[in-house]
Amino acid sequence: MRVCVIGTGYVGLVTGVCLAHIGHDVICVDNNEAKVKVMQSGTSPIYEPGLSEIMQSAMSKGNLEFTTNVSTAIANSQILFIAVGTPALPTGESDTRYVEAVARSIGFAINGEYKVIVNKSTVPIGSGDWVRQIINSEIEQRNLDTTPQFDVVSNPEFLREGSAIYDTFNPDRIVLGGNSSEALSLMKELYQPIVERAIPANDAIGKLSAETVPVVTTDLNSAETIKYAANSFLATKISFINELANICGRVGADVVQVAQGIGLDSRIGNKFLQAGIGWGGSCFPKDVSALIHTADDYGYDAQLLKATVRVNTTQRLLAVEKLQQVLKILKGKTVGLLGLTFKPDTDDLRDAPAINLIEELNRLGAKVKAYDPLIQSPEHHSILSTVDLETTPDGLVNGCDALVLVTNWQEFANWDYVQLAKQMNTPIMIDGRNYLDANVLAAAGFYYIGIGRPT
Ligand code: NAD
Ligand code: UGA
Repeated sequence: MRVCVIGTGYVGLVTGVCLAHIGHDVICVDNNEAKVKVMQSGTSPIYEPGLSEIMQSAMSKGNLEFTTNVSTAIANSQILFIAVGTPALPTGESDTRYVEAVARSIGFAINGEYKVIVNKSTVPIGSGDWVRQIINSEIEQRNLDTTPQFDVVSNPEFLREGSAIYDTFNPDRIVLGGNSSEALSLMKELYQPIVERAIPANDAIGKLSAETVPVVTTDLNSAETIKYAANSFLATKISFINELANICGRVGADVVQVAQGIGLDSRIGNKFLQAGIGWGGSCFPKDVSALIHTADDYGYDAQLLKATVRVNTTQRLLAVEKLQQVLKILKGKTVGLLGLTFKPDTDDLRDAPAINLIEELNRLGAKVKAYDPLIQSPEHHSILSTVDLETTPDGLVNGCDALVLVTNWQEFANWDYVQLAKQMNTPIMIDGRNYLDANVLAAAGFYYIGIGRPT
C-alpha cells in the first residue's frame, strides 16, 4: 500500500520505517529541512535501538523515502498518517496547532483517490471529527468539480522510547477507531503482517511473539480516550508504587520486595511497579495533564489523576531531600548525576526528572556534574549550561560529595565502584531507580541509599 507519514519524530519515523520494512511504499514528510536531509542520507536524527539498521535496509530496497514536499506525498498516497507533536500548553491542555496545519495541508492537496487519514498523534478526545471538518473546509475552498473522498481513523500509538522498534512489531494490541468500514478494512490490511507476525527477519528486530495481535476497533472518541487512559493508568501505577516507597521508607519495609509480592497477583501485574524519582518524558506528563484538562472542560474534577501528578512532582525532588539528610548543607557541595535522559536507551530529555533535580540543586547552591551516554553537549537543553557535563565515569565522580543515579542506563551496573569511591570526597550514592546492587556498592565503600528501601 502507498503510505505517507507526516511528522518524522519518534513516532512518525519509527512508524514509517516499520511499515516500509513490512513491504509498504512509504514516504515520510517533515517540514524541518535539515532533518529531512539527514534522513535522506540514511541517518536517523534520533537514537532508537535498531532504527538505523531497519531504515537503511528499507531505503536500499527502495520503498522508503523522505521529503519536505507534503502536497506531492499526500496526492500520491492512499493512507496518510498524522504523526506531528501535540505538546502541552502552559494551561496543561494539548497544543493541536501542528495537527491543524497538517489537516489543512491534506485538505489543500487531497485528490480524487479515496484516502484514509490516520490520527497517530495523541490528540484531545473529539479531534477525529475536528480534523475531518478542517479537511472539508479546505476542500470546499478549492471549488472542485468532484469532491475528494476520505475517512478519518484514530490509531493511537503505544510504543515506548528506547524499545520503539520492538514495540511496533510486538504490540499488545492495535487500536483502530472510526465509523467507516472501508477505512477500517484498509487499516487492517495495512497492519496484517504485524497482526499475523509475518515480518521479514532482521537482526535488529529480536524475537517476535507467536500469537496473533488483537485488533480493537472502536468509535473515534473511544480510540482517542484509550490512548489517554493507557498513559494515565501507567502513570498512576508508578505514582502508586512511589507513594508506597515513601511509606516503606518510613516503616522500614523494602518497596522492591513489596512490588514483587503484589506484582505476582495477575490482577495487578508486575510491570510499571519500579519505584524511583518519578516518571517523565514527552508523553506521560502532557497526557495526564491533557486528560485532567478535558475532564475539567466537561465539568468533572479528575481528583485521582491530579493526585497522580502531585505524587510525581514531589517524587522528582526526593533525591534532594535524601542528599540533605546525609550532607546537610548543599551549598558549595558537588553532586554528580548518573544519567540525564527520562529513561535509558533514548536521547530524549523532554520533561526528564533530571531537569527539576538540576534546577533545585542550582537553587540550593550545589555544583552539579553529570554523565549521560547520549547527552554529552549542552545543546540538548538550556539547563545543561549550568552543569559540568563529563564524558567518563572518572570525570564525573572526581571531587563529588555525592552521586545520584537518575537514569537506569545499563552501563552504570558495570562501573568500577571500588575505584570510583576513592576519587570522591564522600562516597555517597542515592540510587534514584533502585538499579544498583546495594551490597556491591556497600562493599565498594559507598553509603548507599535507595528509594523506599532500608539503608
Ligand atoms: P516529535 O516532536 O518527536 O516529532 C514531531 C515531528 O513533526 C517533528 O519532526 C516536526 O518537525 C514535525 N512537524 C511538525 N509540524 C509539521 C508539519 N506541519 N509538517 C510536517 N512535519 C511537521 O513528536 P513525537 O514524540 O514523535 O510525538 C508525535 C505524537 O505521537 C505526539 O502526539 C505524541 O504524544 C504521540 N506519541 C509519542 C510517543 C513517543 O514515544 N514519543 C509515543 C506514543 C505517542
Ligand atoms: C510511555 C508508554 O509506556 C507508552 O506506551 C506510550 O506510547 C508512550 O509513553 C507515549 O505515549 O509517548 P515512554 O514515555 O517512552 O512510554 O517510556 P516508559 O517506559 O513508559 O517510561 C516513562 C517514565 O516512567 C520514565 O521516566 C520511566 O523512568 C518511568 N517509569 C517507568 C518508572 O518510574 N517506573 C516504572 O516502573 C516504569
